[in-house]
Amino acid sequence: MATIKNSLEGTMETESLSNLCDVQDSVEEASRQLAFFFPNFDKNKTDQKAERTLALIRPSLLKERRDSIMQRIRDDGFEIAMQKEIILSEKQVCEFYKEHKNEDYFPALLEQMTSGPTLILALTRENAVAHWRGLLGPTALEEAKEDPNSLRALYAVDSSPINQLHGSSTTDDAQKELEFFFPQEHTLAVIKPAAAKEHKDDIMQKVKDAGFTISKIKEEALTRDMVAHFYKDHEGKSFFGDLLSSMTEGPSVIMVLSKENAVEEWRQLMGPTDPEEAKNISPESIRAQFAQDILSNAVHGSSTKQQALENIQYIFGEIDID
Ligand code: CMP
Repeated sequence: MATIKNSLEGTMETESLSNLCDVQDSVEEASRQLAFFFPNFDKNKTDQKAERTLALIRPSLLKERRDSIMQRIRDDGFEIAMQKEIILSEKQVCEFYKEHKNEDYFPALLEQMTSGPTLILALTRENAVAHWRGLLGPTALEEAKEDPNSLRALYAVDSSPINQLHGSSTTDDAQKELEFFFPQEHTLAVIKPAAAKEHKDDIMQKVKDAGFTISKIKEEALTRDMVAHFYKDHEGKSFFGDLLSSMTEGPSVIMVLSKENAVEEWRQLMGPTDPEEAKNISPESIRAQFAQDILSNAVHGSSTKQQALENIQYIFGEIDID
């Protein structure tokens, strides 16, 4: 569970926080609030139930036949929801494969897994876990080779006794393994007053389409104290007074958005600060589509994980997001 500890205690402005007493303490409550504010939010939900699984392409295969295996994954109807390529440390391998630590093959597995970059994939499709496992074939390479159409047979490499492809065994394992490589992050997102008045349903639709979980949500007017706290880095800038006024002119929608890599992904979805630049380089972004100008630029988001933690706590207090 991710508890946001009250490290800012004492620095908070209690007066402005008294406006924020209706803090929700669970994602369920956030869902109820969401349904209340945005009754159409889930209307377009499709029945198609895409599932996610974790796939690893081990270093030797990645080095020798990356394009082929990636093509094969796409041909089998998987979409790549997330990916990262990293050289795993011994510690990471030991942690990930802790249940295998006493097996005969563990030293060879460790050697293979730390020998170069591994490609880590979150694959999605219907029935992804069982489908990917089925395609891989048996775990032990000798057994896999008895089924020449299994991916582990097709993509075995001569230089290693270890199968070159991993897949989660069950949906529970998939969730744990995905969490291991792609940990959940939280960011603070604000739909600013002018955009909250004109475009909140469209913006919420974009939030949903991007796959964020809305862990907390409330709709209320920020006070000048709160805005000043949020934007303390901009104090003294020419636009600071206008920023205070525009951010307090009506209710904002304030959310905690959760997802793997949430801080960066929300920033991508917002687009550049200046909507003119957003229209040029990121025409699908929220600011390109819904911002009035650089000041009333529709949405706000934390810049870093640390800032997200601080501002979430400032707005929502000490909470258990998960
Ligand atoms: P935001 O991403 O919320 O962070 C700081 C805010 O300051 C920014 O969005 C804009 O609303 C505002 N801002 C930043 N630069 C300028 C500028 N040059 N002129 C007017 N407002 C600005």
